[in-house]
Amino acid sequence: MNTSPYPHLQRASRKPLTVADLVQMKADGEKIASLTCYDASFAALEDRAGVDLVLVGDSLGNVIQGAATTVGVSIDDMVYHSRITAAGLERAFLMTDLPFLTYATPQQALHNSHRLMAEGGAQMVKLEGGSELVATVAHLTTFGVPVCAHMGLRPQMVHKMGGFKVQGRDAEAAETMRRDALAFEQAGADLILLECVPASLGAAIAAEVSVPVIGIGAGPDTDGQILVIYDILGLSPGKKPRFVQNFMDGANSLETAAADYVAAVKSGSYPRAEHSFK
Ligand code: KIV
Repeated sequence: MNTSPYPHLQRASRKPLTVADLVQMKADGEKIASLTCYDASFAALEDRAGVDLVLVGDSLGNVIQGAATTVGVSIDDMVYHSRITAAGLERAFLMTDLPFLTYATPQQALHNSHRLMAEGGAQMVKLEGGSELVATVAHLTTFGVPVCAHMGLRPQMVHKMGGFKVQGRDAEAAETMRRDALAFEQAGADLILLECVPASLGAAIAAEVSVPVIGIGAGPDTDGQILVIYDILGLSPGKKPRFVQNFMDGANSLETAAADYVAAVKSGSYPRAEHSFK
């Protein structure tokens, strides 16, 4: 009997993960554990802790630059943080955000994705949107850019959405999101990220599409989970969002906290009902 608190570390090979590995994890029912990251030291720590998918998020506008929103983050910021994060990784898959208004046309999206991949070492780019971006996703994937579609709460749209609110609560909005997820999959998206939606909608979308669905505040039934690294370490000031758990409680090092997070995602003990929306 395996009594290690970190069976994922004993199982995992150190071979770099690919998109195909993430799809296989979904098929095998193995949860994908993901965290944000912004530099080489934390990248190496997350990698050793067994994180599968590392996101250089434009949340760096909040947690690194101290801004209230992600709107001011530039493509140069993302290229820089992606490059220094890539330098610390051995096994984890690296995804990097296209920041606000750097993918307003398919051509601009392709140009900036090229920068994130060629200069920043990203293996996948993430963009926030709905049906208006299906053609852009098709354009990117045609040219060999792996893409993640970030749906639900889209922090880059904060001023348009009127704040950071749970999305897809009414039947019409939920149906639109389900249709958009299928359209993204058909356009070639390799991954879907769902932020702040009811747990039932997270479960329905994950069951309907064949690509992995990573949730943040989207309930326990998505194919994986993502959180901001500083949130799991209890470093973020102010009121913590409902879906956040501080894994520093009871941990004796940053690396143990990250490994505990991965183990909790893999075993399904995080997130629980108290972290989810109805
Ligand atoms: O920018 C970011 O960190 C994100 C996560 C919160 C999913 O998009």
